[in-house]
Amino acid sequence: MYRYGKFAKAGDQTHQRYVPDEKDLAPPPDYEKAIPIGTDINTGELVSLSISNKDRIGIFGNTGSGKTRFIKVFVSRLWKGGYKILHCSDVKNDFQDLDNRPGASKKIIEQSGFAPGEKRQPIPKEMFMPRFLYHEYPEHRSKPSYLTPYALGFRDVSTEDFRYLLNPSSTAQENLITNMMSGLKAEQLSYQTLYELVHDTSNNQQLSQAVESSIEAVQNQSIINDTYRKDPLEYLDDNVVVLALENWERYKYSGKERVEMFIANVMRRAREQLRDGDLEGPLLMVIDEAHVFVKNGADSISKQEAVDTTVLGRGYGIPMIYSTQKPSQIPNSDDKDTDNIVGEMSYLFLAPNLDEDDWKTALRATNLYNPNRLQKWRDLFQSMPEFSWLMVDKAASTYRVIDPLAPLCAHTG
Ligand SMILES: Nc1ncnc2c1ncn2[C@@H]1O[C@H](COP(=O)(O)OP(=O)(O)O)[C@@H](O)[C@H]1O
Ligand SMILES: [Mg+2]
Repeated sequence: MYRYGKFAKAGDQTHQRYVPDEKDLAPPPDYEKAIPIGTDINTGELVSLSISNKDRIGIFGNTGSGKTRFIKVFVSRLWKGGYKILHCSDVKNDFQDLDNRPGASKKIIEQSGFAPGEKRQPIPKEMFMPRFLYHEYPEHRSKPSYLTPYALGFRDVSTEDFRYLLNPSSTAQENLITNMMSGLKAEQLSYQTLYELVHDTSNNQQLSQAVESSIEAVQNQSIINDTYRKDPLEYLDDNVVVLALENWERYKYSGKERVEMFIANVMRRAREQLRDGDLEGPLLMVIDEAHVFVKNGADSISKQEAVDTTVLGRGYGIPMIYSTQKPSQIPNSDDKDTDNIVGEMSYLFLAPNLDEDDWKTALRATNLYNPNRLQKWRDLFQSMPEFSWLMVDKAASTYRVIDPLAPLCAHTG
């Protein structure tokens, strides 16, 4: 009896906790049509976005402005709308908590709220990490269990990429590499073939040895394997697929584009698969830290791939989210870069803590900016509450300040 009583009471409490309020009884949003993302802070109106393959969304704000959490607002709802999701540059493994049950915490829901009829939900994810970054976790500590290390195979890179990795230090080496690989496709290569090619192409022993040791160095870096082991893109049907890049920093500045190569590769192959009908869209691509991997003025592999995807991807079913603290450092109309990523944006979300240069660059890409009314924008940014977003609809030439909803999935960051 005693036990029964105790359980009855607990049961009662559980029941009370889950008595649905009116909001929960509302029908859920039709996510395939439009996703709710926030509320207008002036009118209280629910703001929903209908996202097309042509849309490029810029989420721009300094550190701590809530970019990652806001990305999850989009990702969790687009997931429910049947979108495939590829996060191309998760530098802090921010997406590791996506599948935490039961989804967004009560605290986050209380803070930010859901749209009527919405329910929190864990989202299945698969996180892949370039093997050379995975090796960077200290030996004595266990590696994050949610990560799957992987390397590229020869068939996943171009001979161009491979030549780049070999990083020849003299013209003679460069010529030898060009000669030995001319007419070959990367998929025909293996380490064994490469060593043989060097041997067959050059009689100069010193030169051969130099190139052989470059090949050996690449082989030891665990970037390219003879055979491909895991293909992240094969998981897109059932999971949000994430290129996890924790430990990226020391490689970024090593002068070799190892991290960029993985980013470019995953984007390029996804685009090819969509083009060839091997993958069905729409596929949302997320690029975080865009000012690093899609930096203006740089000719990095990842930047070129991102530019191509931004322009061509519209036809292949690829909507995109670019997120950065420094929009003035991604290709825009104010810099010397011939590409213009900021100009391709259809929706901009600007945080109140952006530097003035950065929000100016963003606003100049719209019809809304007029240098004579600079003070008006300054006042607006100053009046915006923390974590709110200035949402600009470029085609409509409208703007409003919104308070973001909670993501449906967990966000512990
Ligand atoms: N709308 C919000 N309301 C309250 N806290 C938020 C909101 N958005 C983000 N945060 C919190 O602020 C911190 C920074 O958010 P995060 O999304 O990681 O920012 P960023 O990616 O811009 O650095 C996190 O602790 C996050 O949970
Ligand atoms: Mg972040």
